[in-house]
Amino acid sequence: MELQNQTALVTGGGSGIGRATALALAREGAFVIVAGRSAGHLAETVAGIEAAGGRARAVPADLNDLDALRRLADGAGDVDILVNNAGVYPFMPTPKQDLESFMRVFDTNVRGPFFLTAALAPRMGAKGSGSIVNVSSVAALQGIPDAAAYGATKAALDALTRSWAAEFGGRGVRVNSVAPGNTRTENVVKALGAEMFEEWGRTGNPLGRLGRPEEVAEAILFLASPRSSYITGVTLPVDGGYVARG
Ligand SMILES: NC(=O)c1ccc[n+]([C@@H]2O[C@H](COP(=O)([O-])OP(=O)(O)OC[C@H]3O[C@@H](n4cnc5c(N)ncnc54)[C@H](OP(=O)(O)O)[C@@H]3O)[C@@H](O)[C@H]2O)c1
Repeated sequence: MELQNQTALVTGGGSGIGRATALALAREGAFVIVAGRSAGHLAETVAGIEAAGGRARAVPADLNDLDALRRLADGAGDVDILVNNAGVYPFMPTPKQDLESFMRVFDTNVRGPFFLTAALAPRMGAKGSGSIVNVSSVAALQGIPDAAAYGATKAALDALTRSWAAEFGGRGVRVNSVAPGNTRTENVVKALGAEMFEEWGRTGNPLGRLGRPEEVAEAILFLASPRSSYITGVTLPVDGGYVARG
C-alpha cells in the first residue's frame, strides 16, 4: 500500500469520479476525508471504504460558501493529498447562459479549488511534500458547443495547475490536472440523457466507448502517489483519445 500514513481530501467525494477516487486512495492506505453537500452520499462513500477495510470521514460542506470551505480546511488537519474534484456542468448555449448559473459554475469550479488550495498548499509546503490533483475536463482543451462557460472554468483550473506547480514546487508540492473525457457517472448521464451520452461514447473517441469513473480515479491515484514524483504542472487527458483525435 503506497499511501499509508497519508491523509487525502477529496471534494465531491460522494459520487461519480470523486467517490471512485476516494475508494482508490483508501485502498492504497490513505485516510480519506470526503467533502460535498449531500451528507447521505458522503456517508455511502465512507461506508464503502470501511467495508473494504479502509478509513474515511465525511465532512458535509458547500464549497461555494467560503466560511464552510475555511472550516473544512481548518478541520482537515495535515493533508498530504488534495483532489479538487467537485464541479458543476451547466451545459447550455451561450445566449441562454443566465448570470446566476454563470456565477455558480465559476464559484464551484474555480473559486472553491482556489481558496481550498490557498489554505492547504502552504501547510503541505511547510512539511516539504504534498500532491494536488485538479479534475479538469476535455472541455478545457477542445471547443465543445454549449460548454463555453464550463470549458472556461476548466481552462482556468488548468492555468491554476501550472501556476501552482511553479509557485509551490520549491517546497515539494506537486500540482497536476486530469482532463476526463465522457465518463459514465450517474449525475452526468442524468444531466445529458443516457442515449445521447452513450452515442458520444461510441462515436466521440478512438476507443469507441464512455470512460468509467474508476479509470479516471486510477490516473488521479497515479498523480497523487510518489510514482509520479517528477511530474508537476501537467494536464493528463483520460479520454479514450478524444483530444488526440481532435
Ligand atoms: N463525467 C464526465 O463525463 C466528466 C467529464 C469531464 C470532467 N468531469 C468533471 O469531473 C468532476 C466530477 O464529476 P462527476 O462526473 O463525478 O459528476 P458528479 O457525480 O455530479 O460529481 C460532482 C460532485 O461535486 C459535488 N459538488 C457540486 N457542487 C458542490 C459544492 N458547491 N460544494 C461541494 N461539493 C459540490 C457534488 O456533490 P453534492 O451535490 O453532494 O455537493 C458531486 O459529488 C467534475 O468536476 C466534472 O466537471 C466529468
